Amino acid sequence: MIRSVVRGMGAALPRRIMKNADFEGMVETSDEWIVQRTGIRQRHIASDDETTASLGEAAARAALADAGLTPADIDLIVLATSTPNNTFPATAVEIQNRLGMHHGFAFDMQAVCSGFVYAVTTADLYIRGGLAKRVLVIGAETFSRILDWSDRSTCVLFGDGAGALVLEAGEGNGSVDDRGVLAMSLRSDGVHKDKLFVDGGPSTTGTVGHLRMEGREVFKHAVGMITDVIEATFAQAGITADDLDWFVPHQANKRIIDASAKKLGIAEQKVVVTVDLHGNTSAASVPLALSVAVADGRIKKGDLVLLEAMGGGFTWGAVLVRW
Ligand code: ACO
Repeated sequence: MIRSVVRGMGAALPRRIMKNADFEGMVETSDEWIVQRTGIRQRHIASDDETTASLGEAAARAALADAGLTPADIDLIVLATSTPNNTFPATAVEIQNRLGMHHGFAFDMQAVCSGFVYAVTTADLYIRGGLAKRVLVIGAETFSRILDWSDRSTCVLFGDGAGALVLEAGEGNGSVDDRGVLAMSLRSDGVHKDKLFVDGGPSTTGTVGHLRMEGREVFKHAVGMITDVIEATFAQAGITADDLDWFVPHQANKRIIDASAKKLGIAEQKVVVTVDLHGNTSAASVPLALSVAVADGRIKKGDLVLLEAMGGGFTWGAVLVRW
């Protein structure tokens, strides 16, 4: 059977680093509160010349270089983002043009923080359906542009960045020993809209709007939702937590990551944590965390890697990949 195999990985971060202490004086907060409640120590914030498209392009170029490929080898670009450069055209098409790619097709996906997990799943279906052989899957965000910088309960949590994977059609025998995307589970439920949303949009206010979140409410639901999709993914693949080499969760809050890993019986040393470095970068968070663990040699070819995310909507999902 056809499998979607990881061929390359790349990432890009804005130049400017903002430490927790930099918020003191802007809003009533402290490094201690932010670290204790979230595990975040710093985040990267885009300057005026850095956008979702420019960060996505840089991550895509890095992934192509890692794969030893050029844009000519790519058939499809799927960009997960909630902070596109424009309402339309899709920022994926802008990245396609920036890469000098005038063949194939490109589109954006919007599932907020779950965007990358949704995008990997979508790319896998295009590859297995025979519509594409090589896909650039990008998660890129500039959440700093939709934050209310006077709201201490949200502005300290988010950051900007991008990560990208090249997925390529390969042969597998249908077993869990195959390399590539092996199993997945996606969910959404709009009943939770008011707990995490942006208070503007083209069809309502005609403005971009700002992120609004009832953090405590999101927190309450997060662990249960995450464990549900992960257990469904384990069941599909016929594996248990012990079979995993690495768990790469959405990087929103260290406490949510720890509680989910504990509930699932995933050993602490198998959990990749980068929320301290990047904050919550929404759809970029999983590929950024992946890129760190691949670059430092933790994730190696053949490792069994579980990706997970949960975000606005609510949306949530998990993907199991053999690297
Ligand atoms: N500095 C200091 N105090 C603060 C800050 C801050 N930056 N922000 C809030 N507080 C205060 C609150 O006002 C509150 O004060 P009060 O008790 O006097 O009312 C107190 O701290 C505690 O607030 P809580 O909201 O109860 O704090 P909690 O422990 O829940 O932590 C947090 C807040 C970090 C937001 C947490 O709830 C969380 O991580 N939630 C989930 C976020 C998430 O996972 N989002 C999903 C993905 S995001 C996406 O999809 C876009």
